[in-house]
Amino acid sequence: MNITAVILAAGQGTRMRSTLPKVLHPLLGRSLIWYTLEATREVTGAKPVVIIGHGAEPIRQAIGDAAQLILQEPQLGTGHALMQAEGLLQGKSDTILVIAADMPLLTPVTLKRLVQAHTAPAGQREKTPVITLLAALSDDAHGFGRLIRNADGEVQAVVEEAQATPEQLRLRELNTSVYCFTAPWLWSALHRIPLSPKGEYYLTDLVAVAVADGLAVQAVVVEDSGEAIGINTRVHLAEAEAILRHRINQTWMLAGVTLIDPNTTYIEPGVEVGQDTIIWPNTHLQGATKIGEACNLGPNSLIRDTRIGDRCKVLASVVEKAVLEDEVDIGPYAHLRKGAHLARGVHMGNFGEVKNSYLGPGTKMGHFSYLGDATLGSGVNIGAGTITCNFDGKQKNPTEIGAGAFIGSDTMLVAPVKLGEGAVTGAGAVVTKDIPAHTLAVGMPARAIRKLEKRE
Ligand code: UD1
Ligand code: CA
Repeated sequence: MNITAVILAAGQGTRMRSTLPKVLHPLLGRSLIWYTLEATREVTGAKPVVIIGHGAEPIRQAIGDAAQLILQEPQLGTGHALMQAEGLLQGKSDTILVIAADMPLLTPVTLKRLVQAHTAPAGQREKTPVITLLAALSDDAHGFGRLIRNADGEVQAVVEEAQATPEQLRLRELNTSVYCFTAPWLWSALHRIPLSPKGEYYLTDLVAVAVADGLAVQAVVVEDSGEAIGINTRVHLAEAEAILRHRINQTWMLAGVTLIDPNTTYIEPGVEVGQDTIIWPNTHLQGATKIGEACNLGPNSLIRDTRIGDRCKVLASVVEKAVLEDEVDIGPYAHLRKGAHLARGVHMGNFGEVKNSYLGPGTKMGHFSYLGDATLGSGVNIGAGTITCNFDGKQKNPTEIGAGAFIGSDTMLVAPVKLGEGAVTGAGAVVTKDIPAHTLAVGMPARAIRKLEKRE
């Protein structure tokens, strides 16, 4: 069987009231359309086709080469949208899986059930359907189209909410906008969709076309109606986010991660968390983040695009594009920025900032310090208020601090500058020249005053 997925994403999304195209709105850190791209790729094993129109350029940029893109111009409804794929897909695929880009919670498992129901061997049922649609049973109609069945329970039509009679509005079997179609019937039938009262060609009207052709339409009901949320407004977006968050949190708890309060724990898709890690409330794990085992994260921490080893502690801190090896302990109120790399056993206390710097194993930076573009050896002690003056107004300059150095409180390290192993600065030193190994430097600007015994 040859199957291609077509994602409909050309609509304006007026109800979002946004300058951003609807399908690019973020949902737990990814764009809405990312979810459908992922799910369909998992089901078909191939790149989907995406129909774009409104906001085509930004959507094209966001999708890149993750899909084949087709422009629908002008946008004359969901049926008209699918028609745009005819030229590309006719004669190539015998099953077409169609999904609206605003249904991000549908799982690959559900989509696979739909495809299997559509393509089941003929012997297993009376009539082979040309349409299998995914329906949802829900008391919250969400503006969805209603399935109309005849006395024998056969699907006869889908009626849009705006056109439904009061009686039809009471029906609770809803159209989720996910369908499997049999080609080539689909490509011919699309041209026979009547114009709707709103002047559009509705994909939903294909159901009535099939019935008029004497062909079977079957419906598969989604097991968890929480998957069938279509995002039309920002209210739906927030509902979907809550469901998705709950789903992800559930997975991590079952995998051995403790969430003190799952309702205030925000873990994006793609994040990995090791066993026996404990996550405290109001902690956000975002982007390409990987957390090791037995860590203690939060409360009140944001960790983004960061790799954290085992047995680390992050308390009330912001960590972005950083690496923490095992047994690193930071916070409260630490800020790690791009390129911060804290080796095993580093301790960083309150109000420290580290950017594009390597702190060697066991280095300690207890209070109020800034290290930028610095490379520190192991066992360095950074006194309170130490600052790397790394920017001279034109460029960033490096600082090197050898192993075992002891930087006195309030030292200004005017880069570029190198401090040898075991160097010591006095409190308030302003270091403008390199300090040799095992040498004490004091003053402003600091000058070397005497040679020291080797420090342990
Ligand atoms: C649609 C269905 C409705 C279903 C609901 C479920 C139709 C007519 N109605 O309604 O039965 O219950 O989804 O979510 O299909 N699009 C295009 N080109 C267009 C118009 C729309 O690509 O010309 C895309 C949109 O970007 C969107 C999808 O099709 O991703 C659905 O369009 P939308 O306007 O959201 O339809 P609904 O009113 O939600
Ligand atoms: Ca919709």
